[in-house]
Amino acid sequence: MGDIAKLILDGKTYELPIIVGTEKEKAFDISKLRAQTGYITLDPGYGNTGACTSNITFVDGERGILRYRGIPIEQIADQCTFVETAYLLIYGELPNQKQLDDFSNAFTRHSTIHEDMKNFFDAYPSTAHPMGILSAMICSLAAYYPELVKPEPTPKDIDTVAVQLLSKVRTICSFSYKKSIGEPFVYPRPDLKYIPNFLNMMFSSPTRDYKIDSEVVSALRTLLILHADHEQNCSTSTVRLVGSSLANLFASISAGICALWGPLHGGANQEVIEMLQQIYADGSNVKKYVDMAKDPEKNFRLMGFGHRVYKNFDPRAKIIKRRADALLKKLGIRDPLLDIAMKLEEVALKDDYFIERKLYPNVDFYSGIIYRAIGIPIDMFPVMFAIGRMPGWIAHWKEMIENPTTKIGRPRQIYAGHTERKYVPLEQRG
Ligand code: SDX
Repeated sequence: MGDIAKLILDGKTYELPIIVGTEKEKAFDISKLRAQTGYITLDPGYGNTGACTSNITFVDGERGILRYRGIPIEQIADQCTFVETAYLLIYGELPNQKQLDDFSNAFTRHSTIHEDMKNFFDAYPSTAHPMGILSAMICSLAAYYPELVKPEPTPKDIDTVAVQLLSKVRTICSFSYKKSIGEPFVYPRPDLKYIPNFLNMMFSSPTRDYKIDSEVVSALRTLLILHADHEQNCSTSTVRLVGSSLANLFASISAGICALWGPLHGGANQEVIEMLQQIYADGSNVKKYVDMAKDPEKNFRLMGFGHRVYKNFDPRAKIIKRRADALLKKLGIRDPLLDIAMKLEEVALKDDYFIERKLYPNVDFYSGIIYRAIGIPIDMFPVMFAIGRMPGWIAHWKEMIENPTTKIGRPRQIYAGHTERKYVPLEQRG
């Protein structure tokens, strides 16, 4: 019998089993609490509530640790390809050469979208936000693969949908970009690997040969890897919750994309650059904006700062900052927004308001600098986050659907509205 916690309620003592994870994280198992005590717990934002156990990603917010399937993010960012990282997250182990070749070849086979899907792009205004297009297109993939849309997919079905999503997401995103600038679609090429293929679809055209720069590929590889998973964040929890109703993987990922769009989550990378542009336009007055972020009356936050879990440096921010600096130097770009970002970090990290609240730069603070240097348009920054996060979403959905103890997610609430009262006919209402 493992450890237990005792809960004393209304003079009665209840025993709650204690769960300990492989990294010594501890939880009370309250799955029988309401049946035993009539009480539920209340935890708005779920800051203290575990939704599941998971073997995929470990984050230690106090020590700034992030590991995918036990491997430190620093080693993966240094030595893996994005396709390798996707395989590791989804299947639990780094692929051997044959597994990697098969996985990569499947990406090539499944890189195009059905020609009929091109019509969808014609229906969107050129100003449509690409996250809305992406979510709709991913959900629409279900219409073209009805054989994969079933409540109990086989492992082979899941493998096929995973590759379809990981490969086609690049094509959908680059097609939405081409549509927004009025250029013809550029199709994926069988001779190009994951990231060069995406860059080529984005930036080449019938009148322009896009030269693929190895430093740009390497910087984008690092960014996609760093975004690949982050345990139970808002969008991944959304994917798991939607999937728990036995909704198909296309629909679950589409919902995750919508959650990621929010400016407090994946939309923050776009907000960071817009904030840096505002500071630049305002004479680069960094202190003014740090002071605004501290003033509750101003309703202004330093976007790219703070994190629900990291109360120390976000290890991803450190890596991205180094890559941004190196890429700009390699490309000979002087981006004043990078200087402002570094100044903002320096001033904020010395300020008691940020120190007391343990607010540090997060994954979104420097990523936009790299996207700008590559030429990614600002409204596509959250889309780049979605491309990176695709393996994590798939891995968590697969883990959830394969877990025989999974039940449909259905939180409770504490009702705080009117107690019973009578219906009032229209003619008697004030
Ligand atoms: C991502 O969960 C994940 O893992 C997410 C992610 C992933 O990989 O999936 O890491 C990706 O979403 C990163 C976060 C990107 N979002 C932003 O950069 C938006 C700006 N940051 C914040 O809005 C905020 O820090 C959150 C949303 C990230 C975290 O919010 P919490 O944990 O709910 O913290 P909070 O809002 O309760 O803030 C606690 C205090 C408050 O002050 P007091 O009320 O105590 O006086 O800190 C303050 C907040 O006002 N605060 C900030 C701030 N973030 C928090 N003050 C100024 N600027 C900020 N950025």
